[in-house]
Amino acid sequence: MLLHPEVQKKAQEEIDRVIRRDRLPELSDHGSLTYLQCVMDETMRWQPVLPIGIPHQTTADDTYRGMHIPKGAIIVANSRGLTWDETKFHDPRSFKPERFLPKPDGAGEVPSPNTVYGWGRRICAGRFLADNSVWIAMARILAVFSITPLKDAEGHLMKPDVKFTTEMTRHVKPFKCDILPRDEKARLLIINASLD
Ligand code: HEM
Repeated sequence: MLLHPEVQKKAQEEIDRVIRRDRLPELSDHGSLTYLQCVMDETMRWQPVLPIGIPHQTTADDTYRGMHIPKGAIIVANSRGLTWDETKFHDPRSFKPERFLPKPDGAGEVPSPNTVYGWGRRICAGRFLADNSVWIAMARILAVFSITPLKDAEGHLMKPDVKFTTEMTRHVKPFKCDILPRDEKARLLIINASLD
């Protein structure tokens, strides 16, 4: 949101139009917030949480494109290689939620959940919980908060220095920003939600 304020604005416009600002988004709104879904899919594609998945082991000899893979071999799937595949995603290293909007509004590209959650029998057992948790967090945060860069002494917005961890699970290193209620209406929604 800090790097792409226009995405934050567009997602908030959609939430305001669909939810109408008199309540917080619910999971039942999931199907109605198309652009927000694109933002989530693009976040997962752009920086997958597990860029090389979790290693698997073959249970039998196999052949792939003429290459012999012996039983017991460790297979590492290059998930981020797949989410950055330029034959499937134009300009793959750029964060562009619109790529997933249908044409003509977007590029009509198709998210591939498997590259994020794994494959076969060992596919992520928590993927539905994960999807719903991330989605509701994004929807509610954007409904009521504005996420903006900090200002320097002269009042100029400072671009955040975004760095990622390099462990097996990848996430953004801590960074500073302002997260403030969007306005008085949002402040009241936050207070009411905290009293529920
Ligand atoms: C955005 C969040 C998450 C992502 C991106 C993610 C991704 C993954 C991936 C890539 C794997 C490896 C799949 C494979 O071996 O091919 C995995 C495995 C697994 N995940 Fe997740 N996961 C997430 C959240 C969760 C949550 C919330 C839970 C539980 C509540 C969970 C439970 C598991 C379990 C139990 C496995 C091991 C499955 C097995 O080996 O049989 N995950 N996850």
